[in-house]
Amino acid sequence: MIKPYSSLNYILNFGFEFLKSSSIENPKKEIEIFLCHLLSCSKFELYNRPKKSISLTKVNLLNDWLKRRAKREPIQYIINNAWFYGRDFYVNKNVFIPRPESERLIDEAINFLRDFDSPRILEIGTGSGCMSISLAIELPNSDVQSIDTSEKAINVAKINSDNLHVNNISFQKLDFLKTEMKNFHNFDLLISNPPYIPKKDMELLMPEVRKFEPYSALTDNHDGLEFYRKLSNDLPYILNNNGIGIFEVGLSPHPKDAKRIFNKICRDIKLLKDYNGDDRILIVKL
Ligand SMILES: C[S@@+](CC[C@H](N)C(=O)[O-])C[C@H]1O[C@@H](n2cnc3c(N)ncnc32)[C@H](O)[C@@H]1O
Repeated sequence: MIKPYSSLNYILNFGFEFLKSSSIENPKKEIEIFLCHLLSCSKFELYNRPKKSISLTKVNLLNDWLKRRAKREPIQYIINNAWFYGRDFYVNKNVFIPRPESERLIDEAINFLRDFDSPRILEIGTGSGCMSISLAIELPNSDVQSIDTSEKAINVAKINSDNLHVNNISFQKLDFLKTEMKNFHNFDLLISNPPYIPKKDMELLMPEVRKFEPYSALTDNHDGLEFYRKLSNDLPYILNNNGIGIFEVGLSPHPKDAKRIFNKICRDIKLLKDYNGDDRILIVKL
């Protein structure tokens, strides 16, 4: 592994080769992320001082990070950080790692709520809090309520809302699948990126996801549609007359199966594509 006081140039090369030989897909990008995080510097600074050496403590930490990454632990858990909607979020193994494709849900929500004076928003499945917190910040007059069954996830979301100084948000530990939602009403937006991987597909996931992300954030332990059935059932209590639901869906055939569930109760249902061109966002109106 890397020896103390090695130069940055050497470490960049060593890290690249080590991650490459561990079959990590983007070894160059990842060693850069590790080093920028370790040294609290920009990528530009990294390449601008190739002869700079790194202290013993930092080398030990980096060696440890590289070994963990070689075992396929996601880089976000190793550096306890993920980027979402232009902001840094603290993450650990108790929360689902925010994904860039979920940013599209935030764009749609902001577009819809832009002209509301003080929109009321409910999120099911808080996780790191990335979606609720982004909405609370982008729509400062909104009132955001965010629910998760995992207390550990809610604790992470609270850390993030404190770090980002958000005060128009509240979190609640609650099992959505087992709770009558009749006390939740008058919302303008119901938003969710629920666990939607069918149980039978869990073993097909890449090791980073299957071995490290919380099982209950990934699957409903059934056919991947349980949350959409409950969301469609509860929508009439939760939403105002002109409110909408915005839900992330999985890969084909999941989007069409999820859409079908809302056919009975919604007059307007749209499937939107993510930036990769896949149907990934379901928007429903009562
Ligand atoms: C796919 S993650 C989404 C997290 C976050 N919204 C995001 O997009 O990064 C799904 C979340 O739903 C939560 N969850 C799972 N079962 C739940 C239930 N029955 N009631 C409420 N939340 C649940 C999980 O703990 C997890 O945080």
